[in-house]
Amino acid sequence: MSRQITVLVVDDEATMRDILEMRLRKWGFDVLVAADATEAARVVREDEPDIVLSDIVMPEMSGLELLRELKGQDPDRPVILLTAHGTVERAVEAMKVGARDFLTKPLNYPNLKAVLDQACRDREVLVRSRRLSLELKGEKGFGPFIGMSPRMKDAYSLIQAVASSDASVLITGESGTGKELAAKTIHDLSARKHGDFVAVNAAAIPRDLVESELFGHEKGAFTGASHDRIGCFELADSGTLLLDEISEMPLELQPKLLRVLDEARFRRVGGKREVTVDVRTLAATNQDPRQSVRDGLLREDLYYRLNVFTVHLPALRDREGDISLLAHYFLDLFREKHGSPARAIREETIDVLERYRWPGNVRELRNVMERAAILARDGWVEVSHLPPYVRHPDDDLVGDVKVPTGLTAAEVEKQLILQTLDETGNNKAETARRLGLNVKTIRNKLKAYGMDG
Ligand SMILES: Nc1ncnc2c1ncn2[C@@H]1O[C@H](COP(=O)(O)OP(=O)(O)OP(=O)(O)O)[C@@H](O)[C@H]1O
Ligand SMILES: [Mg+2]
Repeated sequence: MSRQITVLVVDDEATMRDILEMRLRKWGFDVLVAADATEAARVVREDEPDIVLSDIVMPEMSGLELLRELKGQDPDRPVILLTAHGTVERAVEAMKVGARDFLTKPLNYPNLKAVLDQACRDREVLVRSRRLSLELKGEKGFGPFIGMSPRMKDAYSLIQAVASSDASVLITGESGTGKELAAKTIHDLSARKHGDFVAVNAAAIPRDLVESELFGHEKGAFTGASHDRIGCFELADSGTLLLDEISEMPLELQPKLLRVLDEARFRRVGGKREVTVDVRTLAATNQDPRQSVRDGLLREDLYYRLNVFTVHLPALRDREGDISLLAHYFLDLFREKHGSPARAIREETIDVLERYRWPGNVRELRNVMERAAILARDGWVEVSHLPPYVRHPDDDLVGDVKVPTGLTAAEVEKQLILQTLDETGNNKAETARRLGLNVKTIRNKLKAYGMDG
């Protein structure tokens, strides 16, 4: 073992924890322990163990749920599950969710050792290659951002500079330019990095629930409020809260919002008591915020309060040289994900990518490159692997929507909308433009499909 490997042992039985800890130490591992899944999730966040060894049946959160959560945080951290006999279905499920291995109790120790050793070797290789790709990335961007265009470099310096202050920041930019990524980066670079980063999108929540989502509610506050619930401001306590799509924040809530920002105090919906929080607030919008103020959608006082600093993310088409960097970066990403043989992008393909307008910006490019990685069956990404609307942007129509016959008109419309959304990188405005519909109509239809409106 070239590096000390840390294993987190999660089991609700103290004896089992002790036995495992002793064994693992004898084998030369560093050991952390947790008695339940909640504690385990915290230890993983704070101490980043290399491997997790978890019992599967525990009160509160099961090992499987823990597994899901851990895989969400870092899909590459091996999680080995332990269980009593006779739960084959569980084992299958666990492997599907991404468990590294599944061992039954009573434990066969040589077996456990072999599984751990293999996990260690894989972990080593991974850590090394990550370090390498981080170094490589250092020349291609900043933190999680790829891109070295002058305009993005300006954005990076701003992000770097505002991160260490505790001020509010307004992040602007078209859809898919990386506003949420910028917010997360500010949080990660700030003194609040150990607190939570919480993002709430006012446009995605039914208007009458926004207040409760932000501030929480007390039991009986309204029909359906069957118990107390804390809101985003409390969830983000000692961390950072991103108010996404701030121009869509219901106008009647804006004074309350302003007060929290000024005084860090508020009442839950239906609550008597004042709650105090320590939250840094960031806001994002893909509208021009001054226009939103002029249109009466955003209160001027709230705008000034949120806009201590502005970080503007330029549209992708204005980032000289970044399209190629990003296209290669996404190709690498999706090559791994889909086991694609595509290794390189033809120059003509880059030319086409650089001529396109990218209304859905980085998110759209990401989708286009994922599709290309799947289609490219030999080493190269060719122009023909790009969607028709990117190849022929002037045709102004959706080229390759395929709908099976036998659908109702409403179902065809749904397919058309969803596919166009997909092709525009989830850009509702562009989807509306292409389909000749109103954005409101698109939002309403999405709501009717049970998706974000
Ligand atoms: N410069 C970048 N380098 C790498 N990935 C990026 C970059 N910018 C954005 N992304 C990725 O593109 C996707 C869209 O970014 P993000 O969600 O932050 O955009 P957004 O501006 O918040 O979009 P929207 O307006 O639709 O909310 C994410 O998957 C993000 O990780
Ligand atoms: Mg966003």
